[in-house]
Amino acid sequence: MKFFLDTASLKDISWAAQAGLIDGITTNPSLLSKQAGDLDPRDVLKEICSLVDGPVSAEVVAVDTDGMVTEGKELAKIAENIVVKIPMIEAGMVAVRRLAADGIRTNVTLCFSFIGRLDDVGQEGMDVIREARTIFDNYNIETEILAASIRHPRHVVEAAMIGADVATLPPDVLKKLLMDPLTDRGLDQFLADWNKLVARAKAAV
Ligand code: E4P
Repeated sequence: MKFFLDTASLKDISWAAQAGLIDGITTNPSLLSKQAGDLDPRDVLKEICSLVDGPVSAEVVAVDTDGMVTEGKELAKIAENIVVKIPMIEAGMVAVRRLAADGIRTNVTLCFSFIGRLDDVGQEGMDVIREARTIFDNYNIETEILAASIRHPRHVVEAAMIGADVATLPPDVLKKLLMDPLTDRGLDQFLADWNKLVARAKAAV
């Protein structure tokens, strides 16, 4: 399973890219609005694209087909690794087909496979991923399943067990995947033992 980072934070993206932990980035208007401040969001996207080799999803804000296509084409000019993100609405489906015909890659969002957002309203978000995997496999559908709205490391494990192609994680969940109290305890113990050795060596001189 590939890991994407669901953020527009240049700091988090830079760290995760340098650590070789991510295969791409997803953004959305909310995430870009938080990061961009007074900057032009296209400049932020350009910077993100320069930090990662993989796909960087940039979402349109138009809600009509022509608007989405125009905006999608503009976004695609920002960098070669831009993937145009389109909401799952009727107009969006036509826009996806038109952009794809022009060779522009797309990522359909809000199609309600958002795991955490379904969990938040008392549903079992992971069922959508499970059903999509089975249906796509039954019919050899080539589109990749991107598990989004991941809230915690168990979501990542479950999505991987089901066979989602990609999980897009907020930076805090990626960092939680690296955290374990037993690691911290083990490291403390190793360092304490090592310091005892150093102290003994000093005392012996
Ligand atoms: C997906 O398209 C969104 O960018 C994102 O994964 C939604 O996650 P959230 O529910 O944590 O906002």
